[in-house]
Amino acid sequence: MSSTLFRTKKVEQSIQDTEEPEHALKKSLSALDLTVFGVGVIIGTGIFVLTGTVAKNNAGPATALAFVVAGVVCALAALCYAEFASTVPVAGSAYTFSYASLGELPAWIIGWDLVLEFALGTAVVAVGWSGYIASLLDNAGIHLPEALSGRDGAHGFGFDILAALLVLVLTGILVLGTKLSARVTSIVVAIKVTVVLTVIVAGAFFIKGDNYKPFIPKSQAVEAGGSLQSPLIQLMFGWAPSNFGVMGIFTAASVVFFAFIGFDVVATAAEETRNPQRDMPRGILGSLLICTALYVAVSIVVTGMQKYTDLSITAPLADAFKATGHPWFAGFISFGAAVGLTTVCMILLLGQTRVFFAMSRDGLLPTFFSHVHPKFRTPHRPTILLGVIIAIVAGFTPLSELAELVNIGTLFAFVVVAIGVIILRKSRPDLPRAFRTPWVPVIPILSVLASLWLMLNLPAETWLRFAIWMVLGFAVYFLYGRTHSRLNRRAETEEVA
Ligand code: ALA
Repeated sequence: MSSTLFRTKKVEQSIQDTEEPEHALKKSLSALDLTVFGVGVIIGTGIFVLTGTVAKNNAGPATALAFVVAGVVCALAALCYAEFASTVPVAGSAYTFSYASLGELPAWIIGWDLVLEFALGTAVVAVGWSGYIASLLDNAGIHLPEALSGRDGAHGFGFDILAALLVLVLTGILVLGTKLSARVTSIVVAIKVTVVLTVIVAGAFFIKGDNYKPFIPKSQAVEAGGSLQSPLIQLMFGWAPSNFGVMGIFTAASVVFFAFIGFDVVATAAEETRNPQRDMPRGILGSLLICTALYVAVSIVVTGMQKYTDLSITAPLADAFKATGHPWFAGFISFGAAVGLTTVCMILLLGQTRVFFAMSRDGLLPTFFSHVHPKFRTPHRPTILLGVIIAIVAGFTPLSELAELVNIGTLFAFVVVAIGVIILRKSRPDLPRAFRTPWVPVIPILSVLASLWLMLNLPAETWLRFAIWMVLGFAVYFLYGRTHSRLNRRAETEEVA
C-alpha cells in the first residue's frame, strides 16, 4: 500500500494532461502580467490592516523588522517555488509540484492544505475590504445595521453582507475568464501601489522621532489563562507567555507573513503562462522583491507618524493620517485600500479554484469539477461552488484568527515545496529547469527551517485547528481520492492490458 501512497505523477504526464482539449486552460499570461498579478495579490490586508495590529500588540516600531523576517522566509521559499514552477508548469502550484516529486499522499495533503490557505485567505481579505468600505460609507453618513456588519465586534447575530457580496461578484468575473480579470487587475494594482507610495512619501513628512522610542518595546507578560493563544514555541519551552521584546518580533513576523502570501499564487497560473520557463521565476521573485521594500517602508513611516500604542487596528494607514490632522489623505487611502483589496480577493479565489481544478483533474476530487466551460475556457464549476462557500464563511467569521490559520497552512506548503526541490533534483536530474534554486540543498533546507520557525511562533490553538483540518483531509483521501485517482485507474488499466 505504501507504494501507492507515494506513487508519483510523471512530470511529462502532468504537462500532457493539461494539453487535452477538454481540460486545457488558455495560455495568455506574460511575465509582466504575472508580476502585476503577484503585486495584485501580495499587497493587501496584511499591510493595510495587520501592520497596526502587530505594532500595537506584538512588536511596536520593530514591526519593520518583523516584515524583514517574514520577507526573508518568503524569499527562501520563493527560490524553491521558482524552480518548481519553471520545471512543472501546470495549474495547481505546490500541489502539482509535490505530485511529481513526493508522491500522491503528500500531494493530496498539500492540495488540501492549499484549499484552506486560499479559501480562508479570500475570506480574510473580503472581511478586511468590507471594513474599509464600511468606513468610507460612514464618512458619507451611511451606516449599515450592526447585524449586517460582520462578526468583528458584533453582539449576537452578525453577517458581513459586504464581504459576502464581494466574493459572489468576483466569482462571476472569474467564470467569465482570466484575461478579463488580469486586465481589471492591472488597473487596480496601479491604484493600490499609488496609495502605498502616497503613504510612504506623504507620511514621511509627519514622522516624529520620539515615536520610535523604544524601537523594540520591552517584553511584557501576557495575562494568565491565555495559554492556547500563546505561540507554540513559548509553551513548548515552558516560557512565560509574553508580548513585545525580541520574541515579539517573531510573533509579529508569523502574523504579518500573511502580507506576503500571494507569490505562491503566481505559480498556480503556470499553465496559463505563455512562456512559463522564463516568465514564472521573473514574476514570482520580482513581485516579492517589490512588496518587501514597500512593506518595510510603510511600517517605518506609520510607526513614526503615530505612537504604536495609539495605532488603529482596523485601518491603521488611513487613521495615522487622521491622527496627524490630514483627513483628506485618510479618505484617499481608504478608497485605494478598498479598491486594492478587491484584486487580492479575486486572485486568491482564482488560485483556489485552480488548485481544486488540478486535484479534480487528477481524480483525487470528483472529475465533475475539472471540465472547463466550453465558451469561457475557465473551470466554472469549482469556481462557483467555492465562491458560494467562501462568501458564507466570509460573512460569518472574524478576521484575525482566520489569518493565522491561513499562515500555518501556507508555511506548511513552503516546507513541502522545499523538500520537493531536493527530491526532484535527485529523482529527475534530467528535467530541463529554466530556473535553478541556487545552493541546493542549502537553500531548501534553510527554507524548511525558517518556515518551521515561523510556524512555531503561531498560537497553539492555530496548530489545533490546522490539525483538525488535516485529519479531515486524510479521511477524504482514504475514502475517495486513493481509489478514484487517475494514476490509480491508469495503473489498473495497464494491469488489465
Ligand atoms: N498578501 C495578501 C494580503 O496581505 C494575502 O492581503
